[in-house]
Amino acid sequence: MEQPPQPAGSGSGNGLRLSESETRAQAFYDRWIGKGDLFSQLGRAVFSLSGTVYAGGFIRAGGLRPEDRVLEVGSGLGKILTASQRRVCAKQPYFGIDLSYEMVRRARRDLDPRRPPLHFLVASALQMPFRGHCFDVVLLSHVVKYLTDPQLRLVLAQVRDLLGPGGRIVLWEFRPYPWGAINRTILRGSRSHKLRSATELVSLLQEQGYRNLQPFSIHTPWPPFRNLAFSGQPE
Ligand SMILES: C[S@@+](CC[C@H](N)C(=O)[O-])C[C@H]1O[C@@H](n2cnc3c(N)ncnc32)[C@H](O)[C@@H]1O
Repeated sequence: MEQPPQPAGSGSGNGLRLSESETRAQAFYDRWIGKGDLFSQLGRAVFSLSGTVYAGGFIRAGGLRPEDRVLEVGSGLGKILTASQRRVCAKQPYFGIDLSYEMVRRARRDLDPRRPPLHFLVASALQMPFRGHCFDVVLLSHVVKYLTDPQLRLVLAQVRDLLGPGGRIVLWEFRPYPWGAINRTILRGSRSHKLRSATELVSLLQEQGYRNLQPFSIHTPWPPFRNLAFSGQPE
């Protein structure tokens, strides 16, 4: 078994060179999650519920075992990782990376020192701060819509290299509605880039060498409700 992952950078986020779309997403989440107004409180409440809403689906789809080394890309407030780690009685440290300083600051602040280590780093999915086959399961929850096609290809390729054979990727994202106006509202509201169909997602995953792709169902209890979700393995 390989060593637990070691971040290649400082993890502080200093010196990150972000694309224009990443800078936009970072500014959006830092402003939204960091303020004290009602809208920000609502945002924090929604992302705080992610553990309750999604951890069960993640554990099942990823076949999570206590000895698995787990990474979430775009980990937000980190609640999916925290809840999953607790529910599977994890024996390995978990890692989350996110562009947003506010998300990471709050995720770190809520850590329970009595639990196995959980590390939250300010980092970009496009410049993963890890090297080698150092994870068994990687999760992308509602982050795919922030990536252009070339960016998503790069992220999927990096995740494949971090996983190695036998590893599992789990991802879900909002499913596009048949009405363009609703999709545009979702993208505008979240400052994101693109909602993809199942066919588009599957072909991007296959192109980057993922096989055994399994669709599964995972629901979001608030708008826009509908998700596309897949697990898969690097060949
Ligand atoms: C909708 S939130 C989802 C948070 C968490 N995964 C959850 O389901 O609760 C999307 C998160 O992805 C992060 N993000 C977007 N683009 C990213 C990128 N290129 N690299 C790292 N994080 C990114 C955002 O900062 C934000 O925290």
